[in-house]
Amino acid sequence: MKRTVVPAQLNLAEDKLVLIDQTLLPNEEKFLELDKAEDIFEAIKKLRVRGAPAIGVAAAFGLYVCVLKSKATTVSAFKKEFEETRDYLATSRPTAVNLFWALDRMTKRFNKEDSKSVEEIKMALLDESKRILEEDQEMGIAIGRHGLSLLKPNMGLLTHCNAGGIATSGIGTALAPMYAGHDEGYNFKVYADETRPLLQGSRLTAYELHKAGIDVTVICDNMVSQVMKEGRIDAVLVGCDRIAANGDAANKIGTSGVAILAKEYGIPMYFLGPTSTIDMNTSTGEDIEIELRDEEEIGNGFGVRTAPKEVKAYNPAFDVTEAKYITAIITEKGIIRPPYKENLEKLFGKRF
Ligand code: MRU
Repeated sequence: MKRTVVPAQLNLAEDKLVLIDQTLLPNEEKFLELDKAEDIFEAIKKLRVRGAPAIGVAAAFGLYVCVLKSKATTVSAFKKEFEETRDYLATSRPTAVNLFWALDRMTKRFNKEDSKSVEEIKMALLDESKRILEEDQEMGIAIGRHGLSLLKPNMGLLTHCNAGGIATSGIGTALAPMYAGHDEGYNFKVYADETRPLLQGSRLTAYELHKAGIDVTVICDNMVSQVMKEGRIDAVLVGCDRIAANGDAANKIGTSGVAILAKEYGIPMYFLGPTSTIDMNTSTGEDIEIELRDEEEIGNGFGVRTAPKEVKAYNPAFDVTEAKYITAIITEKGIIRPPYKENLEKLFGKRF
């Protein structure tokens, strides 16, 4: 069986964090090499690297490349620098829990090794960041397999935003079953919501699915109801930025509207993400901080003024889909069905 290979868009090379600048896609494939905390912060904040798992991997590698340059000779001085850089990177974006999860893993690894020398701790941090990347890649493959078990050949699939290879370091989450199905000749017809205001659907999802040879059609966000009514959609697959302990799920703004429509039309609504996206310390979606972004992204997106300069815009970047609209949550560990509170606790306990 052939396997779709999504080219590495996020990695480490010669002590630099290397990533494709997603703000330039699909027009330009430009790679950035970063090793300064301010540049890594800016890349996350400005969505040059984006998507919950990719933000986590970038933050882990980013933290490593920053502290690698430290001239500290004592572990306590090195730890101070590590913590300052970590805390700074943690303020880049608030919603995706994977950022905090990855930084927390790096901290735990540091603490585990803190009786060793500074050089040995640096090597341990490199090892931990590589593990985060490798696990992310493996999780994508497992999510793809579990997700595919819910789908049939020739289905019409809808996705919102981009939860594909470029949102992770592997084959993605919501797009992973599409790649897995493509490898087995499933012949899916994928509809990609454009995803206003930053167009992750049309710029990124369409770009990577088309590149892989998957049939993809872009629709504007306000066409979802019509496209569902026409019977073109058999299942909706989306990613997630944080899933609360009761199953409420934060994802790109517009996802909750798609979920409400899916329920109305009797279409299954699946959220796909690694277990690092499940935050058992957040009890419901109401406790998830929603990032507010610059008004200019709406009225002056991509440098074109589409609303009068004097008029205000309101720009929440995420919304929360209530658990009652979610047919299943698909992780690398398997498929979780309602009741989510009980089933998430059974699977993961309170360890997140
Ligand atoms: O603002 P973005 O582009 O980082 O938002 C991304 C999403 O909402 C994705 O659907 C989510 O992070 C899952 S990516 C596997």
